[in-house]
Amino acid sequence: MKKTLFFALIPVFLIAFALTLGAQVGGGDIVMKNSFGDAAFSHERHAGKGLTCQQCHPEPYVTAEKHKTVTMKEMEQGASCGLCHNGKQAFTVKGNCTTCHKK
Ligand code: HEC
Ligand code: HEC
Ligand code: HEC
Repeated sequence: MKKTLFFALIPVFLIAFALTLGAQVGGGDIVMKNSFGDAAFSHERHAGKGLTCQQCHPEPYVTAEKHKTVTMKEMEQGASCGLCHNGKQAFTVKGNCTTCHKK
């Protein structure tokens, strides 16, 4: 009886597992702490714009743990977010401060 119940529940476990995996796109939501206020990066939002993993990995990003901190000045010259947030491919880092930074 107990065995039957266990086998009957296997599909439920599998579906729950698949949903847990599917809930996160790529590296999920990343928060970059800095002096101006937390900057949020969403994999889901970026993947949704048709970007491929290879456009950001392994350059300029590896993992949050191996994060190389850059300044806004470096971003204005094309580093990190500035690779695309240059006013051509996406909204520029020379403004739109609160689109990325939350106090
Ligand atoms: C627009 C840029 C961008 C794209 C596209 C992108 N990523 Fe990321 N990814 C990042 C950033 C930023 C980080 C954080 C790295 C850091 O802090 O330096 C990151 C981190 C990760 C991490 C590590 C998460 C952690 O907590 O350290 C994984 C895994 C990952 N990405 C997988 C993917 C996969 C899979 C795709 C394609 C579906 C993808 N990424 C597409 C920017 C991107
Ligand atoms: C595209 C998103 C984005 C926009 C737009 C943006 N920032 Fe940032 N900013 C970041 C991220 C991400 C970091 C953290 C960088 C890191 O950890 O490598 C950061 C870091 C900073 C820092 C700390 C580093 C430094 O340069 O001293 C300051 C200050 C800052 N931002 C101010 C601003 C101001 C002011 C604006 C508007 C003119 C702005 N940011 C617009 C994403 C953005
Ligand atoms: C490979 C290119 C690329 C990189 C690198 C990149 N972005 Fe973006 N991002 C885009 C594009 C394309 C859009 C959508 C067009 C737009 O909003 O101007 C976007 C949109 C966004 C949005 C608005 C999302 C929405 O749907 O509301 C935020 C916030 C953002 N990016 C933050 C960041 C931050 C923070 C970084 C750096 C850690 C970053 N992006 C790095 C390409 C990139």
